[in-house]
Amino acid sequence: MLRVVNLTKVYTTGFLRRRTVLAVDGINFAVQEGEIISLVGESGSGKTTTAQMILRFLPPTSGKVEFEGKDIWAFKTKKELKSYWRQVHGIFQDPYAAFNPMYKADRILYQVFNLMDSHISISDRRRLVREALEAMKLRPEEVMGRYPHQLSGGQRQRMMIARCYILKPKLIVADEPLSMVDASVRAGILKLFLELRDRYKTAVIFITHDLGLAYYMSQRILVMHRGKVVEEATPEEILSAPQHPYTRRLIEDIPLIVRKWVDI
Ligand SMILES: Nc1ncnc2c1ncn2[C@@H]1O[C@H](COP(=O)(O)OP(=O)(O)OP(=O)(O)O)[C@@H](O)[C@H]1O
Ligand SMILES: [Mg+2]
Repeated sequence: MLRVVNLTKVYTTGFLRRRTVLAVDGINFAVQEGEIISLVGESGSGKTTTAQMILRFLPPTSGKVEFEGKDIWAFKTKKELKSYWRQVHGIFQDPYAAFNPMYKADRILYQVFNLMDSHISISDRRRLVREALEAMKLRPEEVMGRYPHQLSGGQRQRMMIARCYILKPKLIVADEPLSMVDASVRAGILKLFLELRDRYKTAVIFITHDLGLAYYMSQRILVMHRGKVVEEATPEEILSAPQHPYTRRLIEDIPLIVRKWVDI
């Protein structure tokens, strides 16, 4: 469904843009329908940069991203872009940056209908929003009528996932989607991803620095290190026979509590 080919991003910074950062260094991978893959790596390894290029927010320096056989940077018209963002939707590490601070939660949630067919009735829209909030364990009175800054980090993150729940995209690119939610809500959200996959064949690119979570969630794990994919394998293979020294270090870093929880 999605294919990433030699994807590379070089950032330029500093005086006369002379300083360069090779954030993503020629990575390749593919995601099938209904598949959950994890992108694991330490801070600064290029995960968010990769996510942003897949979501077409950031142009690659070279290489390409193909969705259903088409180069996503060839999409030019509003219609093509809308259709892409309906099918490939992002959940961000920092939801505060993703929401318009001038919009109240209601508007942020109802906005997703702009990406969808216009024939969805008002009552269906209300029902979809209600169900999405319920699935995220958000009480309407807790969020509706509030601006993003009046919500907690975890509530903002759950709002973003609620939007995915309404849209039912083909692929969710989830960049550290659980960084701000507590353990009680975390398990529910993980289950929700699995449920969306089982019910609607939603594929997920799950980005995390936690190999334990990746093990629990995904069919395939890609380990990123300094902009490169250094290892790609099933969770079982990665844990039983890690090939790259960096992967071995990540395994040692899996917190005890996660080990108990996912039973490794
Ligand atoms: N806009 C930018 N300009 C210059 N350099 C950047 C920019 N954004 C990211 N970088 C650099 O690119 C590299 C990869 O950053 P990226 O945000 O993709 O990492 P990450 O794997 O998502 O890390 P984290 O786990 O901390 O979120 C880092 O060295 C970062 O400092
Ligand atoms: Mg990041």
